[in-house]
Amino acid sequence: MCGIVGYSGGRSAASILLNGLKRLEYRGYDSAGIALGGPDGVCIHKREGKVAGLVEQLGDYENRPEIQRAHSGIAHTRWATHGPPTTANAHPHAGGSGEVVLVHNGIIENHSSLRAKLQADGYQFVSETDTEVLSHLIARELLETESLVDAVRLALTQVVGTFGICCMCAAEPDVLVVARRGSPIVIGLAEGETIVASDASAIISHTRQVIYLDDDDVARIEHGSVDISSLDARPVTRETADIDWSSDAVEKGGYAHYMLKEIHDQPEAIRNAIRGRLDATRGTAVLAGLNLEPRDLVDLQRVVFVGCGTSLNAGLVGEYAVEDFAAMLAEVEQAAEFRYRNPIVSSTDLLLAISQSGETADTLAAVREAAEKGACVAGLVNVVGSTIAREAGRGIYLHAGPEISVASTKAFTCQVAVLLMVALKMGRSRRMSREAGIQIVKEIQRVPELVERVVATSDAIAMVAQHFTECQHMFYIGRGYMYPVALEGALKIKEISYVHAEGYHAAELKHGPIALLEKGTPVVAVLCEGPGKDKVLGNVAECQARGAVVVGLITEGDEESRDICDHVIEVPKSPHYTATITATVALQLFAYHVARLRDCPIDQPRNLAKSVTVE
Ligand code: M6R
Repeated sequence: MCGIVGYSGGRSAASILLNGLKRLEYRGYDSAGIALGGPDGVCIHKREGKVAGLVEQLGDYENRPEIQRAHSGIAHTRWATHGPPTTANAHPHAGGSGEVVLVHNGIIENHSSLRAKLQADGYQFVSETDTEVLSHLIARELLETESLVDAVRLALTQVVGTFGICCMCAAEPDVLVVARRGSPIVIGLAEGETIVASDASAIISHTRQVIYLDDDDVARIEHGSVDISSLDARPVTRETADIDWSSDAVEKGGYAHYMLKEIHDQPEAIRNAIRGRLDATRGTAVLAGLNLEPRDLVDLQRVVFVGCGTSLNAGLVGEYAVEDFAAMLAEVEQAAEFRYRNPIVSSTDLLLAISQSGETADTLAAVREAAEKGACVAGLVNVVGSTIAREAGRGIYLHAGPEISVASTKAFTCQVAVLLMVALKMGRSRRMSREAGIQIVKEIQRVPELVERVVATSDAIAMVAQHFTECQHMFYIGRGYMYPVALEGALKIKEISYVHAEGYHAAELKHGPIALLEKGTPVVAVLCEGPGKDKVLGNVAECQARGAVVVGLITEGDEESRDICDHVIEVPKSPHYTATITATVALQLFAYHVARLRDCPIDQPRNLAKSVTVE
């Protein structure tokens, strides 16, 4: 949530920062700003709206000597929390009389009391943000200390909440000070220069060598030198890591939108997620990062999946698969609910935290709560080095590559592929036979090719989508493994096309929602072959009897469903557990085409941002 970039080095900072902001715009896009430090002090430029507006405001900045002279700077793209998206609330925020400037991700929870004290001391506020409180706090501490880094430390000890910050001051214009607690900061290392960002996509075009800060680390950066210390000023050493994906992964690659590219990425992403993790001879999965031997797995009595949004829907597939393959207790829970419910967990529970970003605040809190209660905690995360990945201690990376579009696509399908492997491994440590395991391995191995076939039907799906560009409401229904698919299909269409869509268990329809059906109401029925399909066909008839127009998501060759439904989208035949993946890909494309035909800003839907690092 919100994007941060910082630069200190020998090059002119403006274009490095602005290009970095464009890379990070998926993290928030309601206002943007930049502060440049140079011989003339620190100068802030910011405005409401997208990064393109800021670039326009800077005019021909590549030929403006006063801008080009700046060899250090900080920049931010915002997703509003405190105060609406206005120019005044945009970052960077100045502290004191402008001697300190700051960009910040996260939330300062005690901002009201700090603001009152600072106002009593004569500090003037020009914004409604919690960030401005921190910038004044740093400015006040700077009056008492020798250096920016000490002032930042002193200020941060007074703060309650979460932060990823990047700060500079007029007295040391080449110095950046960065710090984190609960909001990521990555430091990119290059010859004679350092690029800082809230995620690696803003860094990858400059260097692959990075340091991920831990909570309560503070780093002082000047050109190529990086000194990391703790909040109480003890020196700290952090390992350097290599980013293992290329800068192409954050390009659109000729597609109209990142979402479309990422839908097309899926066959390869799923190949990467399953590569080296399936043992076709033993009929099991090899998940080294879980670090659980069969005897540990036998001791486990329950798997609890936690996540939010799309990751929560993937968790529901995980619940079904663990029950199905391993005959083991499994539950899925919205992460925010888990953290506040005083959940009953013990050392015989495995809590699997599912998160694309690895930074979702509620999922992270659930990880901490479960660890506190002695559960075995593992992460199922895409972003390498993210907070959940590191705090969980054990886990499985998705290897899906960077997901830029706010609407999650390839993360979901890779999550499901990995969850099927987790369930398989659990099953094999219990009653599942080798033969049954081998069959599941074969089915999972077929998935990338099946997804290729679904993606190739994009034009046919677009033809169906064109009937639904004017609708206001939609219903998605499914049963069994197809129930989470219905939920995910509805989530996808509502977030990118602004059509109000609800996913229901098909049986739930007549317990209330059917009252909303009227002539022409679209209902998407997930009818892939498997237990429950015939029942959903019965629900389809009930909907049609009330005038609904039904789009059937059917298995190729299912003539019965084809005849009943008003429109159909087909997916290749596969067992219902892997059809969760193929059917979801088809619904991603359906949502994409509806949104495209409605001319929606697909990669940057209103009110949303890629990762939710605040409660
Ligand atoms: O990064 P995470 O997987 O933890 O994010 C969870 C949700 O915020 C995310 O899946 C969200 O629902 C997506 N925008 C859905 O497309």
